[in-house]
Amino acid sequence: MRPVLVAGNWKMHTTVKSAVELAASVVRGLEADPRLRVAVCPPFPYLLPVAEVLRGSPVGLGAQNLYPKPEGAFTGEVSPAMLRDCGCQYVIVGHSERRHVLGESDAFINEKVLAGLAAGLTVIFCIGETLAERDAGLTHAVLDRQLTNGLAGVADDAWSRLVIAYEPVWAIGTGRNATPDQAQDAQAFVRRRVAQLASAAVADNLIIQYGGSVKPDNAASLLSQPDVDGALVGGASLKADQFLAIVRAAV
Ligand code: PGA
Repeated sequence: MRPVLVAGNWKMHTTVKSAVELAASVVRGLEADPRLRVAVCPPFPYLLPVAEVLRGSPVGLGAQNLYPKPEGAFTGEVSPAMLRDCGCQYVIVGHSERRHVLGESDAFINEKVLAGLAAGLTVIFCIGETLAERDAGLTHAVLDRQLTNGLAGVADDAWSRLVIAYEPVWAIGTGRNATPDQAQDAQAFVRRRVAQLASAAVADNLIIQYGGSVKPDNAASLLSQPDVDGALVGGASLKADQFLAIVRAAV
């Protein structure tokens, strides 16, 4: 049985105070389950105070981005080693907001995936089609391109630290989630494609999350799909009670 990973992507929200309180509430409310992994991904400036709160708890710490160089003259950027130094186990790479708002290419995202894995982080690699691509019948083709380019060169021993988040762009922050059938179809495709890119065993053990308007009332139906192994949660992760309800629905 694959583990289930529920991760909260806090995006550009919270303050020092509210971030610490939110993390503390998640730690307090979490009911342990052997299949369950939980992580929160605060903004960069709040990684250290949140790491303090999470210390000794089963809740993992993740960052929302990295720059794919070990160090150097890259004003404003943060390296994978810095994230490790701050206590991160996870990093989100290739989120659609970075692809579409910040203009990150498949090739740049691939560099980030490889740099995160090389630094020992678990990389939550996000992929997903836009509404126009879905309407044009291109969903599988887009996922194929993002997987093939984004995961080029992943070392055999690094796949176990890779998580894929299927996040249809039209479902992110819109209140319009994919149906369980749409999520299952896309995620089964992702698993088949990873079996070709890596191996059947890698694909079988791979955690594939669904993301896009996951809420307490739709989490159970999405997460009951055979190829949905958890959720990447945006808006609902900013309220501890909602995030914890999604976590409970996952196990
Ligand atoms: P949402 O965001 O849950 O607010 O739709 C999900 C994400 O962007 O990861």
